[in-house]
Amino acid sequence: MDSKKPNSEVYWETWEVSKNDRRKIKGHSSLIIWLTGLPSSGKTTIARELEKRLHDMGGHTYVLDGDNMRHSLNKDLGFSKEDRRENIRRIGEVAKLFVDAGLIVICAFVSPFKEDRESARTLVDDSEFIEVFVNCPVTVCMQRDPKSLYKKAISGQIKAFTGVNDPYEIPETPELVVETHVLALPECVDMIIKYLHDKKLIEENVGQINLMSSDNVSPR
Ligand code: ADX
Repeated sequence: MDSKKPNSEVYWETWEVSKNDRRKIKGHSSLIIWLTGLPSSGKTTIARELEKRLHDMGGHTYVLDGDNMRHSLNKDLGFSKEDRRENIRRIGEVAKLFVDAGLIVICAFVSPFKEDRESARTLVDDSEFIEVFVNCPVTVCMQRDPKSLYKKAISGQIKAFTGVNDPYEIPETPELVVETHVLALPECVDMIIKYLHDKKLIEENVGQINLMSSDNVSPR
């Protein structure tokens, strides 16, 4: 176990610029909005719209999405329980760095195991982790099935597919539940933004818009 810890010759450095300094310059708090739910429940769709809304309000944001991260940082991982755990562990650490950088990080991962979501939560302060259960009955997810993955799982072409032949542990005490089979997309996003307002994590006009490179990070 100790072999996974840095040895005594590896030191922790601190910097002149703190998380709060970075937040101040951005004009808002930094935190993780963690979207969890079945495949096709609407996580990526919500992440995309939520980021756009926060960005338009002047927020400094970044989206970490399951499918995209599995093309890059996590391309060595599959869908066994151990690999899903490692997937979420790495993403939690990346998201923590982005919180330190002063960003509003939107994570969209199936993240089916409660223990792994809780581990991600413990990496940051209590007020910096907002778990949003993107709730949708599996029957509706199966009807949506934009990538035909449920179809493949049911026919046996995909093993261990969440919701078909692999478990999803429902969050017991998420900060928010959005029901994508009941609410339209703008209403789901409104709920999350209202929560951030109510908790005073963002203001109406969350910060100054800084112009940055428009390059997108994509797999090469
Ligand atoms: S997690 O379980 O480790 O959190 P993650 O969110 O990264 O999963 O990736 C899920 C995405 O991978 C799904 O949106 C789907 O497109 C794809 N996928 C491929 N195989 C599976 C599988 N067996 N179970 C769930 N998702 C899968």
